[in-house]
Amino acid sequence: MTDVYSIPAEIAKSALIDQQKYTEWYDRSIKDPEGFWAEQGKRLDWIKPYTKVKDVSFTGDVHIRWFHDGTLNVAANCLDRHLATRGDQTAIIWEGDDPSESAHITYRDLHERVCRLANAMTDLGVKKGERVTIYLPMIPEAAVAMLACARIGAIHSVVFGGFSPDSLGGRIQDCDSSLLITADEGLRGGRKVPLKANADKALESCGSVKNVIVVKRTGGDVAMSAGRDHWYHDLVEKAAPTHVPAEIDAEDPLFILYTSGSTGKPKGVLHTSGGYLVYAAITHQYVFDYHDGDVYWCTADVGWVTGHSYIVYGPLANGATTLMFEGVPNYPTVSRFWEVIDKHKVNIFYTAPTAIRALMREGEAPVKRTSRASLRLLGSVGEPINPEAWTWYHRVVGDDRCPIVDTWWQTETGGILITPLPGATKLKPGSATLPFFGVKPVMVDAEGKILEGAVEGNLCIAESWPGQMRTVYGDHERFIQTYFSTYKGMYFTGDGARRDEDGYYWITGRVDDVINVSGHRMGTAEVESALVAHPKVAEAAVVGYPHEIKGQGIYAYVTLVADEEPTEELRKELVNWVRKEIGPIASPDLIQWSPGLPKTRSGKIMRRILRKIAENQFDALGDTSTLADPTVVEDLIDNRMNRV
Ligand code: WTA
Repeated sequence: MTDVYSIPAEIAKSALIDQQKYTEWYDRSIKDPEGFWAEQGKRLDWIKPYTKVKDVSFTGDVHIRWFHDGTLNVAANCLDRHLATRGDQTAIIWEGDDPSESAHITYRDLHERVCRLANAMTDLGVKKGERVTIYLPMIPEAAVAMLACARIGAIHSVVFGGFSPDSLGGRIQDCDSSLLITADEGLRGGRKVPLKANADKALESCGSVKNVIVVKRTGGDVAMSAGRDHWYHDLVEKAAPTHVPAEIDAEDPLFILYTSGSTGKPKGVLHTSGGYLVYAAITHQYVFDYHDGDVYWCTADVGWVTGHSYIVYGPLANGATTLMFEGVPNYPTVSRFWEVIDKHKVNIFYTAPTAIRALMREGEAPVKRTSRASLRLLGSVGEPINPEAWTWYHRVVGDDRCPIVDTWWQTETGGILITPLPGATKLKPGSATLPFFGVKPVMVDAEGKILEGAVEGNLCIAESWPGQMRTVYGDHERFIQTYFSTYKGMYFTGDGARRDEDGYYWITGRVDDVINVSGHRMGTAEVESALVAHPKVAEAAVVGYPHEIKGQGIYAYVTLVADEEPTEELRKELVNWVRKEIGPIASPDLIQWSPGLPKTRSGKIMRRILRKIAENQFDALGDTSTLADPTVVEDLIDNRMNRV
């Protein structure tokens, strides 16, 4: 029997949405989506109000348009419209890597900073529709840069600061950015990250970039290329502090964010302006039950979609106070998260299961020596949260007082799709529970048959919602192929799920060749192509396996070229190679030397078998009779690396 956690009286008293309202609104949002979203769209300020709400087709050419005859400016919605009522309210609390460094930035101040950078970018010749790549640490300038792009209608592409020069270069090339905004160095856990040096390497292969703006974060020594590189502080100091926001069509692109898929290079997920912001704002308000004056903290990095929607756009559209943290959970001590909560009186805390599992290992004492009395609500995102981590989070961090919203969504969805609402939903540890307003999940079997009732299957979404991605940048065909061709007329998420007798959803994880390492999406194909790029590697196959902290670890089967000896040294070399090619998050946890890989007679690698061996479940290999050489499997089992 699963434990069920009812809604605490304290929460019910003030919650924006209760059980009855959830049911009423949800039913309406499904029966009359146009009416529902026409009303919700009014939460934004429009320059030209929309008269059309929805124009969507999931078949044929696949097009998705929301509020499409309206115009607005996303940055003005996040800043200007708050100035009259909350100009002096803190918009961003910045907490540095070093606990002695923090700052409060008001809406007025943030507005001025964004205006200055928008002017500086315009002076550099950046125009509406141009792409700007942002490669920054977790400093306020990251939010300023995103909003400055939005202000002039430039399309930002934020690249996580942990990515390698090659990964950065590929992302710049794919969207032909004309401007790169970076910093001298980042600072994480007391260690410096050479962002500018990485950027310089990346730019060797990126002809499109005409200008680089460099934020001085650490003051470290960096090369500045005359004519191309500009110090951020010089530019903004000279720029005017006011700026008239550009009028942007609801369906003009706001940003591109690269994410891993099951095949090929990471794809540029494209989000547009009006629908995305409506969806980020409504979900931020209701999922986190955000009340005026609350201090809200999402620990994600702005390099991921969670940082876009729930550090920057959703909270700022709602006039919230959003905390931005430069550091890591275990520096200088493993109490850091809880200390920051006490320091800034955080009410709402949103983090990832991998962080919870890592901190759980340290025991209760580092948590219990802090107060956390300000906390009202906890959130989880990025991967399935195992019930053990959930109950620890609830009991130890939340003192059994704070509901947990386990929010399921994806880069592609723009915002949260399946989630509890604190005042409306009873919780079951490990379940993302019920769909948000306007979201219609369906379970399908491998043949595409829609399954009713309590079942397990593949998770699709039947109808569009305003925050949905619109296309893969520069490759609409890939968009159609990836998301709309497996199941006709539906958006296929790539996740498997179970629906229980109460209609609650339990996400079981990816059903494609994407693995989820510490909440970061990684395509096995990407790691494989990095490995085979090494001169000593002939062939590689990568799968995920259960990992206590990371959720999934990366398990690589490597066949060396003839005459190469497998050594411990080479193993380390390959790990470092992948770190360098993609970034530290892609480091293989286990490498198994494999003289051969299990292949069908037509040469296709049988990943199912490799997954089972990596999971240490080799007695359940299933049918191996179609293998070209079944003895390969015995060797792989004998030399398996994950002996749990
Ligand atoms: C997984 C992150 C279970 C899922 C916002 C999805 C989750 C992928 C949850 C998207 C959750 C995210 N429970 N699984 N609460 N949240 N996932 O694009 O497999 O980085 O498809 O977006 O993470 O990862 P992405």
